[in-house]
Amino acid sequence: MPTALITGASAGLGAEFARQLARRQADLVLVARSADALEELANDLRQTGVAVEVIVADLSVEAHVERVAARLRDAADPVDLLVNNAGFGLPLQFADNDVDDEVRHLRVHVEASMRLMHAALQTMRGRGGRIINVASVAGFISRSTYSACKSWLIGFSRWANVEYARDGVSVTALCPGFTHTSFHERMGLPPGQEGVPRFLWLDAARVVRDGLRDAARGRAVSIPSLRYRVIVALAAVLPSALTSAVARRGRV
Ligand SMILES: NC(=O)c1ccc[n+]([C@@H]2O[C@H](COP(=O)([O-])OP(=O)(O)OC[C@H]3O[C@@H](n4cnc5c(N)ncnc54)[C@H](OP(=O)(O)O)[C@@H]3O)[C@@H](O)[C@H]2O)c1
Repeated sequence: MPTALITGASAGLGAEFARQLARRQADLVLVARSADALEELANDLRQTGVAVEVIVADLSVEAHVERVAARLRDAADPVDLLVNNAGFGLPLQFADNDVDDEVRHLRVHVEASMRLMHAALQTMRGRGGRIINVASVAGFISRSTYSACKSWLIGFSRWANVEYARDGVSVTALCPGFTHTSFHERMGLPPGQEGVPRFLWLDAARVVRDGLRDAARGRAVSIPSLRYRVIVALAAVLPSALTSAVARRGRV
């Protein structure tokens, strides 16, 4: 029975990863700060016959990240799939946000993901495994620290997917566009007031399905939906001043 460890599993895409993987009979390790939400999801998923562990951890705190890393290094009960999914957006532009929030943001998206990948590779190399880093289409555009963090995840995944293929490990950056989750509401943008046209919204189930499929195919980058693949292709050829100005309108 494969085991998957998912960060940010208490809501949104992370909870959807947990539900879809449980349907595939994977045992699960769920990580986030909200103990009650994790326990509620864990209890539901245990009804389907899979084993579910919960690790309550704030991934902006190094000691908490280390507890999750220790679980990933446990060769006696190895993890086959790591999903680095936890994340959040900041409400303002860089200079207007509290710098400590910016640092927390960098730690959760980049430092925690890096530490957890390093830990996972200690047991995956040789025996095989999969890593999915939830990035964003924002990673293909220049827009504040969020885009820079997601860009790091995409660039690192592209390299690591080639480097560790020889050890049987695939590393995939999953790059969703706007997706219905609690992400925008947590940034203070109530549903319907994000300023994003309806046709650009994706549904979490589809994003996760596409991500799992592309990871199984060993792809380095997964961009759910044709419309976002077109947007990413355009972003590569349009001037960055233009794409940054357009991206200023929305948060993905
Ligand atoms: N929704 C979109 O439009 C969209 C688009 C592109 C990419 N993404 C990316 O998708 C990922 C998942 O976001 P989502 O849309 O599912 O948002 P969400 O519904 O707000 O879920 C975010 C998850 O991250 C966890 N999290 C946040 N800060 C954390 C911390 N310090 N330590 C541990 N866990 C933390 C939250 O759990 P707790 O609060 O319980 O800790 C929650 O489970 C993020 O990386 C986001 O950047 C989202």
